[in-house]
Amino acid sequence: MAGASTPSSYSTTSPVKATASVLVLGAADSTVLGLEGAKAARTALNDAAEAIGFTGSAGTTARVPAPKGVAAESVMLVGLGDFDAASEDVAATHEALRRAAGAALRALDGVETIALALPTATAAEVEAVTVGAGLGAYRFLDYRSEGKTPGELTVIGPKGKSFKAAHDSGAVIAAATNRARDLVNTPPLDLYPESYAEIVRTQAKTRKLKVTVLGEKELQAGGYGGIIGVGQGSTRGPRLVKVEYAPKGAKRHLSFVGKGITFDSGGISLKPAKSMEDMKSDMAGSAAVIQALFGIADLGLPVRVTAWLPLAENMPGSSAQRPSDVLTMRSGKRVEVTNTDAEGRLVLADALSDADSDKPDLLIDVATLTGAQIVALGERTSGVMGAETAREEVVSSATMAGESMWAMPIPEEMLAGFDSTAADLTNSGPRSGGMLAAAAFLREFVGEDTNWAHIDIAGPSFNSSSPFGYTPKAATGAAVRTLIQIAKAAG
Ligand code: BES
Ligand code: MN
Ligand code: ZN
Repeated sequence: MAGASTPSSYSTTSPVKATASVLVLGAADSTVLGLEGAKAARTALNDAAEAIGFTGSAGTTARVPAPKGVAAESVMLVGLGDFDAASEDVAATHEALRRAAGAALRALDGVETIALALPTATAAEVEAVTVGAGLGAYRFLDYRSEGKTPGELTVIGPKGKSFKAAHDSGAVIAAATNRARDLVNTPPLDLYPESYAEIVRTQAKTRKLKVTVLGEKELQAGGYGGIIGVGQGSTRGPRLVKVEYAPKGAKRHLSFVGKGITFDSGGISLKPAKSMEDMKSDMAGSAAVIQALFGIADLGLPVRVTAWLPLAENMPGSSAQRPSDVLTMRSGKRVEVTNTDAEGRLVLADALSDADSDKPDLLIDVATLTGAQIVALGERTSGVMGAETAREEVVSSATMAGESMWAMPIPEEMLAGFDSTAADLTNSGPRSGGMLAAAAFLREFVGEDTNWAHIDIAGPSFNSSSPFGYTPKAATGAAVRTLIQIAKAAG
């Protein structure tokens, strides 16, 4: 896993003086922005935009020759939509900047040097531009014979320490998200529980982190019935990875749990071929939590964070669990497996039990848990369920980070749908409100007083339609930015 992230630096030079192959400028309402000090260049570029019918609607780009007075070789205009720098809705302003930067970088393959001069007045705006650009520059080339990336990026903005710091923080956030994308995009032939655990170990080594990996024997001995049950149909056995970041003086303890099914065939309750195509992405929750933790460590945020990654491959081998098997879970509860394709909740339940016994201040699990999430909220909006305080903290941090997440209930009648004739409960509940039902199941493995939230990222984690803004096709890195934002707010 090489990972193709474009290096990014910060500069306060005037946009017209920037020497680069391409100077990127924002445009809105048929006006080129950010050239206040350079009237002639601005007039020339406004004329050029008008001549080619470029109005600056969101996500559009146009390349034009550099006019006199601009040092760069050419200029790219990128639309900011109905952008209002003075708007009170700062979250919307930041997201418009991220998306414009992302759209520009998606269109700059093979360009050697890029100077990005979108309109920024605050440190948070510089961070947003840097994040969007870093995400837009992402390409997954590990399995291609050839491929181009944007070369070097310079983000241009105001003078001052806080702006440079904001750029550097944005670069860390983009890199974390891109590493999560790499993990998700890697084919399941190469990414399986053991190899995944090794990648985590390697990436943790350059940071001050403690890594613990439980193998099959330890999982058996520890009574992790859910992880063992899901993993036993594959020749490549399951793992439970725990990573701890505990900086000195940290007060708050965040605990993240991420679903890590490296391939979900459905098991004996086999999925139809079409539904299996994107199931290498069924470990996107685990990728989000581990890369968020690495990002938080890279930023040196003063919070304690523990990540739990239950990793298994859900396969229908001859030793696979059968529908109607009963598992004794890590918590001691017995679960009748009525559908082996409802595997995520089984591995999460065991990891949640462990995470819960640390008594963290906030416990969040992230999972590509249900197709019902996509039915309820669509491809781009994650569902957030759980305790009210935790849920609201997740949703508000998501808004700040520019991720679409929506609070959903866990209606009281959901749990009755899990009644079993053989065990304490089954693993597949009511069909109606399937996303909410899955959350009701998970809640059975979390203490009543635990400040817990569950994020279902089934749709948002993997973009099977066209790219947009800073979001490419395939892996998106969903939830990484929200988790980092939660840690920032907690620090
Ligand atoms: N990994 C899937 C959920 C999923 C579906 C993620 C589509 C991304 C896109 C999960 O393990 C699953 O199969 N869930 C079942 C649950 C059902 C059997 C209760 C589902 O959603 O159909
Ligand atoms: Mn499944
Ligand atoms: Zn799954």
